[in-house]
Amino acid sequence: MSEEIKKTASWIEARIEGFRPEVGIILGTGLGGFAERIDTRYAFDYKEIPGFPVSTVEGHAGRLIFGEVEGRRVVAMQGRFHYYEGYAMSQVTFPVRVMALLGIRCLFVSNASGGINPTFRVGDLMVITDHINLMPNPLIGPNLAELGPRFPDMHNCYDKVLIARATAIAEREGIKLQYGVYVGGTGPTFETQAEYRYFKIIGGDAAGMSTVPEVIVARHMSIPVFGVSVITNCGLSDEVGDHDDVQAQGRRAGVRMEKLFCGMLREL
Ligand code: HPA
Repeated sequence: MSEEIKKTASWIEARIEGFRPEVGIILGTGLGGFAERIDTRYAFDYKEIPGFPVSTVEGHAGRLIFGEVEGRRVVAMQGRFHYYEGYAMSQVTFPVRVMALLGIRCLFVSNASGGINPTFRVGDLMVITDHINLMPNPLIGPNLAELGPRFPDMHNCYDKVLIARATAIAEREGIKLQYGVYVGGTGPTFETQAEYRYFKIIGGDAAGMSTVPEVIVARHMSIPVFGVSVITNCGLSDEVGDHDDVQAQGRRAGVRMEKLFCGMLREL
């Protein structure tokens, strides 16, 4: 695996002419429009990158974009791999390891989730302060010792300094933020009412189907992480989960999310 990661990183390095990304960004729900803010230098379709997982979903284009935003050199994943699509955890997290080898010093992620905290409203942005992992751990198997330790510490998983900076930026820009614990399940089903109640009891504030594997792998490599979730539905209400609603709420929250991430890049 480790050799594959190196091979892929070398393939990319040979094509980006010394460009060294400082920040890796996973453009999940809420950051769909962020790609347009990148002053793109290089971009690769996932399907042309050797070793990258091959998308199973027709018309679901994925691209790795290298460029500048707010004076920062970034590498952005336009499209991520979800465990529920059938990828192995090693595939879901492969791009994060490649980005690490390319030199990122920090990982930004966004996603959509169902609010469990009763004070949350649809459209809110929740800064992820911690997570509860209910998926298979991506580090199960032989440890890649050159990347990180066998038993990685998960304190400060979501970097406190970055969270404090986000708070300051949001106050200045008039962006309302919620804070909470993201519960990562496999999906693809939305939760039952009993499961949402269970997630609340165990300490969750929002439920989602992504992000946790990528964050664990980033923390294995000691890369600081900042994550924000768009609350697209309220799990404990009677409304049913709907993918189109999730997408629509994500787009609506996009402007605030982009403003916040741009501020974070500016002040890094
Ligand atoms: N559960 C899991 N994932 C989600 C949800 C949810 O309610 N909403 C958006 N993504």
